[in-house]
Amino acid sequence: MLRPVILGTGCAVPAKILTNADLERMVDTTDEWITSRTGIAERHIASSGEYTSTFATKAAELALEKAGVTADEIELIVVATVTPDFPFPSTACLVQNNIKASRAAAFDISAACSGFLYGLSLVEKMIITGSISKALVIGAEVLSRVVDWSDRNTCCLFGDGAGAVVLGTSQSGNGILSTHIHSDGSYWDLLFQPGIGNRNPASKKALEERLMFLQMQGNEVFKLAVRAMEDAAHEALDANDLKLDDIDLFIPHQANRRIIDAIGKRLGINNDRIFVNLHKYGNTSAASIPIALDEANRSGRIQPGNLLLLDSFGGGLTWASTLIRW
Ligand SMILES: CC(C)(COP(=O)(O)OP(=O)(O)OC[C@H]1O[C@@H](n2cnc3c(N)ncnc32)[C@H](O)[C@@H]1OP(=O)(O)O)[C@@H](O)C(=O)NCCC(=O)NCCS
Repeated sequence: MLRPVILGTGCAVPAKILTNADLERMVDTTDEWITSRTGIAERHIASSGEYTSTFATKAAELALEKAGVTADEIELIVVATVTPDFPFPSTACLVQNNIKASRAAAFDISAACSGFLYGLSLVEKMIITGSISKALVIGAEVLSRVVDWSDRNTCCLFGDGAGAVVLGTSQSGNGILSTHIHSDGSYWDLLFQPGIGNRNPASKKALEERLMFLQMQGNEVFKLAVRAMEDAAHEALDANDLKLDDIDLFIPHQANRRIIDAIGKRLGINNDRIFVNLHKYGNTSAASIPIALDEANRSGRIQPGNLLLLDSFGGGLTWASTLIRW
């Protein structure tokens, strides 16, 4: 059976690092509070002149290099992001231009932190049906430009960066075994950016009311995230007639160490099979899983034949899971 397979991974983050100690000088917070409530120690922040497309492009180039695939072989570029360079054209079109993937169709998808797994799900179907044979799926964000740096409730949580995979086809049985995606729009206002879309367009009022910055009801999001990610994990395993014991590496969305610990406990999966890097990056939304995947891949944490479970949750609300035989 024809399956989509990940041929290469890449990631890129800004050089500039913002530590918890730096945040202590910006808002009324402490390193102790941030570390104990979130597990985050530092995050990478884009400098002026760096955009979502900057990191998406670099991640894509590294993934292509690792895959041994050239840009002109790529037929589709999907960028998952809620912080595109522009409302339009898509960040994917900017990446296409930067890497000179002249044959590729390119577009963005918006599914917040689940965007990368939504992208994998879409491309999986296109590969299985034979519409395309090689694609780039990228998760990329510059959240630091929609974070209110005077709001201690949110500013310590997020970071910038991008991760990418090159997808091709395999007949070996290895590759993406399944993808599942879900949404519940009734919770749309638990985590959102009120401006400056067309409901609250750019205006003096929008600026004064700080509508361009994301807002979140952290407690509610926390509870829903744990439940949804647990369900998504079981759904992926059930669909493939597999058990948690079969999983070699669980890569959850990197939002909060306590969310990851709670899911690990509910699933009964011990820490040595859970990949965590959020202490270094914070929550990079759509970029979090592909950055983690690339780090796990390049560090040798993933070996051929390993079974990986990717599990995400984000604004929308959206959640998703992907099972991969590496
Ligand atoms: C945001 C989050 C870390 C807050 O942790 P929490 O334990 O739920 O804390 P609470 O919201 O109950 O706030 C407790 C107190 O800490 C305060 N607080 C919030 N941020 C703070 C900070 N950075 N430093 C110090 N105190 C802070 C709050 O003001 C509140 O004070 P109060 O009791 O005087 O009102 C947690 O809810 C969370 O991680 N939620 C999920 C967020 C997320 O992952 N979103 C993305 C999903 S993709």
